[in-house]
Amino acid sequence: MTHSVMRSLLAAALCAAAVPAVASDLRVCIDKTSDSAMMDRRIAQSVARISGNHLVVHEFKGDGGGDDEGFPLKNFMRLAAKSCDLVLGFPMDATRPDALAGLSATPAYAHMGFVLVEPRGMTERDLADFPKGTDVGVTYLTTPNLYFAAHPNVIANVFDTERQTIASLVTHQVRAALLWRPTLVHYEITHPGGEKFTVRELTEPHARYDIVALYAARGQGTAAEFDRAIGQLARDGRLTKLVAPFALPGPAMAAGITGGQRHAERVNQTDRIIVVAAEGDTDQTLPALYTAAQAQAGHDAFESNCSMCHGKDLTGIAGPALKGKNFASVKAHFHVSDVFRIVSTNMPATQPGTLSHQEYTEIMAFLLQQNGYPAGNAPLTYEGALKSMTPLLYHGS
Ligand code: HEC
Repeated sequence: MTHSVMRSLLAAALCAAAVPAVASDLRVCIDKTSDSAMMDRRIAQSVARISGNHLVVHEFKGDGGGDDEGFPLKNFMRLAAKSCDLVLGFPMDATRPDALAGLSATPAYAHMGFVLVEPRGMTERDLADFPKGTDVGVTYLTTPNLYFAAHPNVIANVFDTERQTIASLVTHQVRAALLWRPTLVHYEITHPGGEKFTVRELTEPHARYDIVALYAARGQGTAAEFDRAIGQLARDGRLTKLVAPFALPGPAMAAGITGGQRHAERVNQTDRIIVVAAEGDTDQTLPALYTAAQAQAGHDAFESNCSMCHGKDLTGIAGPALKGKNFASVKAHFHVSDVFRIVSTNMPATQPGTLSHQEYTEIMAFLLQQNGYPAGNAPLTYEGALKSMTPLLYHGS
């Protein structure tokens, strides 16, 4: 299904389901495809009871209906504008809790995160405890794929869905996996006789998420009411039970005292939290994989060796475009290593493999730069590029 078809279907579904507002209704949107939807339903029921409101739940499919492209951030705006006062269950990166103009977020009512999962009985507490070269399962386009799989001890085995990543652990294809904790909890609930795992919290940045409710300006009063009710649940100890077993322990238990509004970003995708939003969305943290000097040198090497076929502006002549949505697309499913392999073994098409390792590496830096990746302090290496399982997706406008 194409992106636009998916979007219009979704829009139609939302219109059909729009509920007229009544003064005493607590209208919430809940992502029914979320592994922790059960928790959000319990929270909504308790809040409605405390605030004396009639609960109206609008369910939506935050996985974009199984489409590759995920759930565009715009749809959250639409939900908050039309279908409900609060969109529950939104995971916001605790490391950088702002962005996405237009919507506000309540203080967190739970914390969730990506965790290290091992077969029961294993004793490693951290990625640093593993021997170099340990096979670890991660899910394509999730935070672990982007950030944690670069750990020197880890050989990332990248799977398309969280379910497949869990399966790789169950079948011992990998030694450990990096998973969204609620997904694992959901798996354990739905497979009561299945294998049990040891779960460890990750300390890496971007591992922890604040679970918030999003709202548009007109939902402000409801948001304040929601936060007051959460505060009461936190004080009388019920919140801990309501968010178990999905949430991580932590300051969310003191929700209601964090205060202040925050803006949110993030997007859900096929299986779970995604750092890389839909193509073309620019406002997000991307890993810095190369230095500015490398990209500059790569620009020159590209001009002499590649531009005659791929175009000075990379939009393609005899060879295809090397930047933009048609190149680094979700569908192409490129990792840095995939593109680097093509470049270093097949290119230039007329004289494959004739450039030096350094030239190929610098050209790769240039390609990353042209596709919207930021420069940083650490240089890209030839070996690193060959191994990098970082997804390559176009992030320009
Ligand atoms: C003589 C023309 C020519 C030159 C020079 C050339 N390429 Fe290519 N390149 C092609 C063609 C044609 C294809 C498509 C090949 C195919 O699909 O099998 C291609 C494919 C690619 C692809 C894969 C694109 C995709 O979407 O699958 C990459 C990446 C690439 N080239 C990079 C480079 C780089 C980097 C250089 C310079 C080092 C270079 N090319 C030099 C002609 C050229």
